[in-house]
Amino acid sequence: MASRREAPSVPSLGRIAVIGGCGFLGSHIVSLLVERHPKTSIAVLDLRTSSNRNLSPNVSYHDCDITDYEGVKSLFERLKPDGVIHTASPHFHLAPAIHDKVNVGGTKNLLKAAQETGVKAFVYTSSASVILGPNVELVNADEEYPLVVGDAQPEYYTTTKAYAETAVLAANRTPPTFLTTAIRPAGIFGEGDIQLLPKMVTAYHKGQTKFQVGDNNNLFDFTYVGNVAHGHLLALQALLDTHKMLPTVPLDTERVDGEAFFITNGQPVYFWDFARAVWHEAGDRLPLSSVWHLSENVAMTIGAILENLFWVMGKTPNLTRAQVRYSTKNKYHSIEKAKRRLGYAPIVDLDEGIRRGVRYILENEKKEREKKGQ
Ligand SMILES: *[C@@H]1O[C@H](CO)[C@@H](O)[C@H](O)[C@H]1NC(C)=O
Ligand SMILES: *[C@@H]1O[C@H](CO)[C@@H](O)[C@H](O)[C@H]1NC(C)=O
Repeated sequence: MASRREAPSVPSLGRIAVIGGCGFLGSHIVSLLVERHPKTSIAVLDLRTSSNRNLSPNVSYHDCDITDYEGVKSLFERLKPDGVIHTASPHFHLAPAIHDKVNVGGTKNLLKAAQETGVKAFVYTSSASVILGPNVELVNADEEYPLVVGDAQPEYYTTTKAYAETAVLAANRTPPTFLTTAIRPAGIFGEGDIQLLPKMVTAYHKGQTKFQVGDNNNLFDFTYVGNVAHGHLLALQALLDTHKMLPTVPLDTERVDGEAFFITNGQPVYFWDFARAVWHEAGDRLPLSSVWHLSENVAMTIGAILENLFWVMGKTPNLTRAQVRYSTKNKYHSIEKAKRRLGYAPIVDLDEGIRRGVRYILENEKKEREKKGQ
């Protein structure tokens, strides 16, 4: 099964729409699509399509608000996509009503338009946090873990991601020619990331690398964005392959349609080891002996550093005692299902991912300085 999917890739996947294709993850997916399947006709739909534009002649850009069903429908009628990759999601700091409207409403609009216009494959970018509850320790957690939603879910954003994922998977094979899957990435970072690495590099510039919270014995997943893009493309291709075999339904143990998959680097690390690797890449040479280990209570006063922790947890940077305790728990996932059914294996390891992501930030900072200097 896996070897078939790892076979030399097809030059064209047909017509593929990438929703949110100008965003951080979306633009990496578009680049990888262009690189691997250059004859694919790619349509990027985004609220604003001015940033992260891919210059390949086979990529077209379309301004589109997914909360406007009529707008989505008419674009789909015109573009006739074979496959849709839906990465669009509002920033998690925004108001709950926006998460409802975009994550739940927008996803339902896309599903409906896709179902009505003959789309074959629909890949949804969910989140690993959909199984994360307030007091849950996740040790090699797999897809059997239940979704945590409503009152039990501390982040409303995550509740809406879980609802959207449920709607996507429930739409599988409705009609019987419409196949869906969900990808759940954990802690995405890389070139163009606006959350994790920039905040860590800023902490370094501010001289905040002397502090460390807790005992550094909790493992986290950080996932290089290129691996997440790779997981999406494998899922898309698996759905399109399954579509070719219709009406045959794959064995339960091989099935991709109607299923969710964790995608990570498969290299859980101690949180502060990751942070220190980022700082080292940024130029930090502070010896570990001079790092201050802070108790959890003192930690609450160091906002900038904690923001990173909370981001990893899918939390807002609003500091509470509960959140600090929460950040000292294990949180990592199993990628066995993705390996078995998608033929997934990370294509970029953590060190290389950190190198690429940090260099991207440093180069941009340099450009900014040069601009100011002129
Ligand atoms: C774009 O797609 C067409 C048709 O599928 C193909 O012939 C062409 O080589 C592609 N262009 C590039 C730059 O790959
Ligand atoms: C946390 O957020 C709540 C409301 O969202 C706010 O009232 C409170 O002041 C915030 N606390 C801190 C420490 O920022």
